[in-house]
Amino acid sequence: MQVLLHTDCVIDILKKQNGPVLNLCREKRLQAWVLASAVPVLHAQLCQTMQDTLARKALVDFLQHVTLLPLTGVDIHSALADSDMEFLETLAVTAVKGFGLAGVVTSLPDGFKGTDIQTIKPDALADFITAAEKSVGKVPLLNIPATLPEILPEVERGMADVVRSGHFILGPKVVELEERIAEYCQTPFAVGVSSGTDALLMALMADDIQPGDEVITTPFTFFATAGSIARSGARAVMVDIDPTTFNIDPAKIEQAITPKTKAIMPVHLYGQCADMDPILEIAKKHKLTVIEDAAQAIGSEYKGRRAGSLGDFGCFSFFPTKNLGGFGDGGIVTTHSEALYEKLKILRNHGMEPKYYHKLIGGNFRIDALQAAVVTAKLGHLERWTASRRGHAGHYNRLFEENGLTQFVATPREIFPRHIYNQYIIRVKDGKRDALRKFLGEQNIITEIYYPVPLHLQECFAPLGYKPGDFPVSEQAAEETLALPIAPEITQQQQVVAKILEFFS
Ligand SMILES: Cc1ncc(COP(=O)(O)O)c(C=O)c1O
Repeated sequence: MQVLLHTDCVIDILKKQNGPVLNLCREKRLQAWVLASAVPVLHAQLCQTMQDTLARKALVDFLQHVTLLPLTGVDIHSALADSDMEFLETLAVTAVKGFGLAGVVTSLPDGFKGTDIQTIKPDALADFITAAEKSVGKVPLLNIPATLPEILPEVERGMADVVRSGHFILGPKVVELEERIAEYCQTPFAVGVSSGTDALLMALMADDIQPGDEVITTPFTFFATAGSIARSGARAVMVDIDPTTFNIDPAKIEQAITPKTKAIMPVHLYGQCADMDPILEIAKKHKLTVIEDAAQAIGSEYKGRRAGSLGDFGCFSFFPTKNLGGFGDGGIVTTHSEALYEKLKILRNHGMEPKYYHKLIGGNFRIDALQAAVVTAKLGHLERWTASRRGHAGHYNRLFEENGLTQFVATPREIFPRHIYNQYIIRVKDGKRDALRKFLGEQNIITEIYYPVPLHLQECFAPLGYKPGDFPVSEQAAEETLALPIAPEITQQQQVVAKILEFFS
């Protein structure tokens, strides 16, 4: 739960008059924010009773347990113009509303009158938290702002650097991101791009895929996989999936190869790597390029090797719902080849090298520096978030077992550690998936279907000539799979599984 500590409450804490509030912050049952703009005020207040060095030390110690909440210049102007309420109170209301906080902790007897924000007295805070934890609230599939307290200080600094430098496209922040991701993915090179979709398209372009070529992929994936193949002019040749991992079945690839086949694009769906050794062997035998669609799989591993380091290209997405999501669109391509790296850099900028001389027909596939700053700031947290997701997946698995639910529901299996659980996918047996989803929705538990229609049956791919029944494993997965909430911050697995038990009882 996230609350704002109002200035009066912070002063009491700093003067050691409000231990319980600080203890709640320390115990991390509470994500507490303090207005960044209030810090000079706090410092000035403390200096009335102590030396400057002691006041600063008290503030530094205190700020370890809370997050500074930034307001914009416009927020401050508006608060100055609003004469109905005291200035700091107006700022606090702006913060609570703007960041969707649960309320503001304050002892002010008459504070915040005339607003609808929740005020909590410091000595009532522990009870407030307990009541909030007990109340059966909405369980979202994921809650992107929940990680803000952890990341905002670094993100803010990175974004401020970009804004102050005026260097918004490519530049040093993008180079920093590329170096950090290359290292993380165990490849020497990475090229930041505008999205995961463009990462795939650029890999195909860098591989000189032409109209008339064929690229083998899976029908059970997000549209962008086959969509990018079609946009390159090539034909997407589908191969059915393995029923356990939901990834392309290597045993079925060779029979799909023709003289026109140029590449294989396996997808590491939901965050678990496809079975890459046989795929790489087939590719080597038939001289095919391997383009990993690792959009959902940053940090995933296959036999000790990272996703994106296994094939010729690794394509990642920084879409906000991904494990490493930006504050907008973005993506990256990893590669071991210096020649491909150079080519990718040229392709992402209209094939231009040097300026205004175009060697190739590329596009505007550039990532912007603000996105790079956000993603770089978040990268340092990724391993912890991955560990947390893996822990949640294990917890779900145990709860399904303990409640005797595995006769109704198949839980995900980690065949190739490590699965990074971008999604936690159950398979609901006996045609009950849609009814279960409806029931959970009625209980305010949000789920999703990834994906309800396999790509070979999408209207736009009708010219490929596929028909129902061509890929039965994918078609069955589309009817049975259901994504449950799995984000790092989730605490309600018990509640989710209890409702699933209720449905099947
Ligand atoms: C498997 C897969 N491939 C490609 C993409 C495309 O990434 P983006 O949304 O960044 O373009 C996604 C994103 O959802 C994806 O899940």
